[in-house]
Amino acid sequence: MSTLAIEGLQWGDEGKGKITDYYAEKAEVVVRSQGGDNAGHSIVHKGHRYALRLLPSGVFNPMVTNVLADGMVINPSALSGEIEGLKAEGVGEFHLLISSRASILLPYHIALDHAREEALGKAKIGTTGHGVGPCYEDRASRIGVEMGDLLYPGYLRERLASALTIRNKELSLYNVKPFDLDEVYEGLIEESKSLLPYITDTSVFLQKALKEKKRILFEGAQGAMLCLTHGTYPFVTSSSPLATAIPLNTGLPLSSVSEIVGIVKAYSTRVGAGPFPSELEPEEAAVIRERGHEYGTVTKRPRRIGWIDTAELRYAAAISGIHYVAIMLLDVLGAVGEINIVTKYLIDGKEIDYMPSTVTEYASVKPVYETLPSWAEDISGITTYETLPLNARRYVEEIEKLTGLEAIIISVGPDKDQTILRKEIFR
Ligand code: GDP
Ligand code: IMO
Ligand code: MG
Repeated sequence: MSTLAIEGLQWGDEGKGKITDYYAEKAEVVVRSQGGDNAGHSIVHKGHRYALRLLPSGVFNPMVTNVLADGMVINPSALSGEIEGLKAEGVGEFHLLISSRASILLPYHIALDHAREEALGKAKIGTTGHGVGPCYEDRASRIGVEMGDLLYPGYLRERLASALTIRNKELSLYNVKPFDLDEVYEGLIEESKSLLPYITDTSVFLQKALKEKKRILFEGAQGAMLCLTHGTYPFVTSSSPLATAIPLNTGLPLSSVSEIVGIVKAYSTRVGAGPFPSELEPEEAAVIRERGHEYGTVTKRPRRIGWIDTAELRYAAAISGIHYVAIMLLDVLGAVGEINIVTKYLIDGKEIDYMPSTVTEYASVKPVYETLPSWAEDISGITTYETLPLNARRYVEEIEKLTGLEAIIISVGPDKDQTILRKEIFR
């Protein structure tokens, strides 16, 4: 098998960055295909913690070509800042390609994101505030600009003029000062200068890599429950984090994803608003939040904490066709006493074993739990599955039973070495 997709199966922040970095050792190409700098992937590499937002987690491996593919939204100032930041931290040279079709995220998208959230008040989505939603809207409205337009400054300026004609009208409704065309244009040209050499038709590159049977790793961003179509709409992001969206977002054929590993936190977290049936009471949540350092990589917002929800996982796995899962942050659940697992829900007193499709119903479900004992030992130094405490193995095996998914990786700490591999894939 030459390609592998990494997909978050919950609400993001499952540990996708760590697992992408783990498999990147064996990859020749690592691809981010959707989303933008709303993502925050924290990676511990040689004892040092890095936070990546736009760059794929293959940048630590000099043999890898890193691709920002067609379906992404790219803030050039954030991307050039991230590249400079990594250099300053001593990360060596890495290969990078940026799709000419990727959308450019501009300062007016960020202003619109903030203005909308403020206008919504209590009904706000709780976005990351990075302008991702308005940027995708521009693409759908056909007033967006693409990375390839940077190579044609005259055309780019005309396109920005059209976008601002429309977007400044909307911003005035929110009493936001209009954006000046010259300032936006000149700022963009300046901030994109260093990125120009990387811009290319990445789908042609990827198609060739696929034909040559290069090992391609698709790094996920966000999680299935944040999918614009299949997530807990409207409390979702504006793209699809599902592995099934990879072909469209990269310009590769449907058959291009050979295997998928779903990334699952040993409990659940969510940032932003929206229903979360297994959410813990504040005191209980605080214990796990502190042990798991559950604060946003990008926004530093405290993450909401809940128990693992196998009804949600069954749904996420079904819509993506997940083959295997990696269970992350298992170490965090040591010594919490009892661990709850959502097996199904009650809705109006009636049991259902699936996730309802409307947010109104989903907000009204009561979780049905199964309870297992935790373990007292610190498992963060354990390297084989067989030497994990019995109760930790029982927990893993119960999740496997309830989801029907094989857990091929158990992660017991943020470092690459703190990874228990149960089955070799992506050879
Ligand atoms: P991503 O967005 O899916 O890449 O996940 P984030 O990086 O936003 O959040 C996951 C956090 O958990 C990061 O701080 C990781 O360093 C950390 N992490 C990953 N795996 C483990 C693990 O097994 N145990 C612990 N304690 N931390 C982990
Ligand atoms: P990674 O890749 C967690 C959430 C936001 C908000 C909703 C919409 O690190 O897992 P947006 O800014 O996308 O319009 O916000 O989606 N969200 C994430 N939550 N991890 C992420 O990425 C997220 N990207 C977006 O918190 O609820
Ligand atoms: Mg994250």
